[in-house]
Amino acid sequence: MSADNQILLSVRRLKKYFPIKKGLLRREKGQVRAVDDVSFDIRRGETLGLVGESGCGKSTVGKLILRALKPTAGEIIFTLDDRQMRINELSDTELRPLRRHAQLIFQDPYASLNPRMTVREIIGEPILVNRETQIADLDARVVELMDLVGLDSRYLRRYPHAFSGGQRQRIGVARALALNPDLIIADEPVSALDVSIQAQILNLLSDIQQELELTYLLISHDLSVVEYVSNRVAVMYVGKLVELADTEEIFRHPRHPYTEALLMAVPRISERDRPETYTLSGNVADPANPPSGCYFHHRCRYATDICSTKPVVMKQVANGHQVACHRSRDLSLKGL
Ligand SMILES: Nc1ncnc2c1ncn2[C@@H]1O[C@H](COP(=O)(O)OP(=O)(O)O)[C@@H](O)[C@H]1O
Ligand SMILES: [Mg+2]
Repeated sequence: MSADNQILLSVRRLKKYFPIKKGLLRREKGQVRAVDDVSFDIRRGETLGLVGESGCGKSTVGKLILRALKPTAGEIIFTLDDRQMRINELSDTELRPLRRHAQLIFQDPYASLNPRMTVREIIGEPILVNRETQIADLDARVVELMDLVGLDSRYLRRYPHAFSGGQRQRIGVARALALNPDLIIADEPVSALDVSIQAQILNLLSDIQQELELTYLLISHDLSVVEYVSNRVAVMYVGKLVELADTEEIFRHPRHPYTEALLMAVPRISERDRPETYTLSGNVADPANPPSGCYFHHRCRYATDICSTKPVVMKQVANGHQVACHRSRDLSLKGL
């Protein structure tokens, strides 16, 4: 991580509400609060892990940053060496420069690569689309990218079906790197892969991060995926952040009961490392009809009256450690 702690991306009070339309007239019957007042920064050169159960809004945050979706409200500010880009305010024609600076690695390397394109075409396409390089340089650049991600460049003209899942994800990574981005959003980059392959891809991401000075937003429903590669971790629950801290701090000293519950579910080789087992009960709250008070209260084993009535906001509880819990000061939660 760079010493200057310079902020690359700033997300402020970000909201995305999807309309729920029903009936023949498709009248709006409500809204899904997929992302509801989320704020965080990503520092240049760091990996910020974004975790939470399925449906809590992680992918929507990623899509808003890449402007694949327009926010309902809030600001997303990208600070480059020479200028600031206010992503939420960019017009469609201003999006091309953003593509050069921020790229996505997809979840499913089987579904995300066009089966009719060769590796050369898949990796080279962003370069051609953005007219970054003379065509004469294209093969050399694709070979360079293949080397970087550990793919044999003799396979330049093969199709995706000839590769294993892990190799396909390497193709996806090479494609994301093609334009030399500053920020990579990796949305569940290893969820579709065998556990034995997951570590290889995570190691690759970490190696190229050093080499290319990349900044990552690493999205995963699985805390063990973010543990080894993230500098900091943000925990999301029903459209809101509930905790954000340095990785070691959040794993050892969680301050939100939801984080504690997620940590209990992280597999450990030695059960001695685990203070107790405890399974989170109940269902995730409905983002179209969230409960009163703290959205987690009906699943929280520490909830008291205030938790079901008073809304809760993120507060700084220690240096760099933020949590949204009414009881964070009197609870002593268990980490790993
Ligand atoms: N395009 C969309 N239209 C309507 N609802 C959506 C859309 N995309 C996501 N949602 C809803 O927003 C919520 C958050 O989804 P998502 O960001 O995909 O969660 P995650 O990535 O954490 O699993 C879910 O309730 C999902 O059903
Ligand atoms: Mg998702």
